[in-house]
Amino acid sequence: MLRRELLRGLAVAAALTGMAPLAAAQDTIKIGLILPMTGPFASTGRQIEAAVKLYMAENGATVAGKKIEIIVKDDTNVADVTKRLAQEMVVNDGVKILAGFGLTPLALAAAPISAQAKVPQIVMAAGTSIITERSPYIVRTSFTLPQKASVIGDWAAKNGLKKVFSIVTDFAPGHDAEKWFKESFAKAGGVMAGEARVPIANPDFAPFLQRAADAKPDAIFVFVPSGQGAIFTKQYVERGLDRSGIKLVATGDLTDDDILAKYGDSVLGVITAGPYSAAHLSAKNKAYVAAFGKANAGMRPNFMSVGGYDGMHVIYEALKKTNGNADGDALLAAMKGLAFESPRGPVSIDAGTRDITQTIYLRKVEKADGELYNVEFGAVENVRDPAKP
Ligand code: DHB
Repeated sequence: MLRRELLRGLAVAAALTGMAPLAAAQDTIKIGLILPMTGPFASTGRQIEAAVKLYMAENGATVAGKKIEIIVKDDTNVADVTKRLAQEMVVNDGVKILAGFGLTPLALAAAPISAQAKVPQIVMAAGTSIITERSPYIVRTSFTLPQKASVIGDWAAKNGLKKVFSIVTDFAPGHDAEKWFKESFAKAGGVMAGEARVPIANPDFAPFLQRAADAKPDAIFVFVPSGQGAIFTKQYVERGLDRSGIKLVATGDLTDDDILAKYGDSVLGVITAGPYSAAHLSAKNKAYVAAFGKANAGMRPNFMSVGGYDGMHVIYEALKKTNGNADGDALLAAMKGLAFESPRGPVSIDAGTRDITQTIYLRKVEKADGELYNVEFGAVENVRDPAKP
């Protein structure tokens, strides 16, 4: 009698604290997807959430006998919020995998939680090289800025652009882009005409564009985070730089497929280096672009979306390998070295660095079917993060 009442009391207490019955908890694996869903970087959150949902619609919500449950939380692009959400989801919600992370400061804020709780942290967007070194449980499915900037720097010097002025956003991925552009550009014989760093909040590029124009370079190199390309382009055109003879080269973040179609013809001919274009010619990508558009009112997938889509693939493949065991060490061991075909092309997870190895394409903005696209014209295969030994 006493024992039965005690048990009933415990059951009530468990229900009150929101604990799920044991059987259900073991059959479900929760993934905490933390993204900027509002604010200036909401497009990154929207793209990745849509890609994660598409992957699950195509591959089912069950893998290795476990039901996959996604919990989406908006960190509003505030690092302290990312950290609190990561902690709450691991401790209170029993989340086994953390994913998302739209910008570098947000990924860095969650890294200590991942390291302490031994919870895999799948970085689907942020691109500063150092991120993966902040927790042994981080796996990155996006890109690093050194991957992109080193490819465009080398290309620029070898294609007649000998004097370049660099403009980057003043935060960690911008610093990575600047450093790796300069390094590969100099190695191939290029000379810098000057450098500028622009604040990330409410950026005004006009004074920096003026400085760049005054330096009379062959080209301007640009990195701005996804979502800020439109304001850069507008100010670039307002200053007449599109008609100045000064070329524009950039990492693919500038000519983001999420907004490229709205830029106008002034960006025709801009050359960028990046891991993904919606115009990538493969059967896998054709199907991806069509399915993504169909599920999201015609939305075009951008380079952030494939970070989300491939991140889900890495999670699913790892769970298949572990037979549904969501232990952090088991999942990490299963993720290291995974190789597969992404909509962007062939990719793999470097077993040593846990960063993505991928093709970096050279692309030119051109019109196809009446819309602007990044049309690939060259490729450097198997690019590891050059900032890592
Ligand atoms: C980062 C954010 C971006 O929007 C982008 O395009 C590249 C890098 C970042 O914060 O790491």
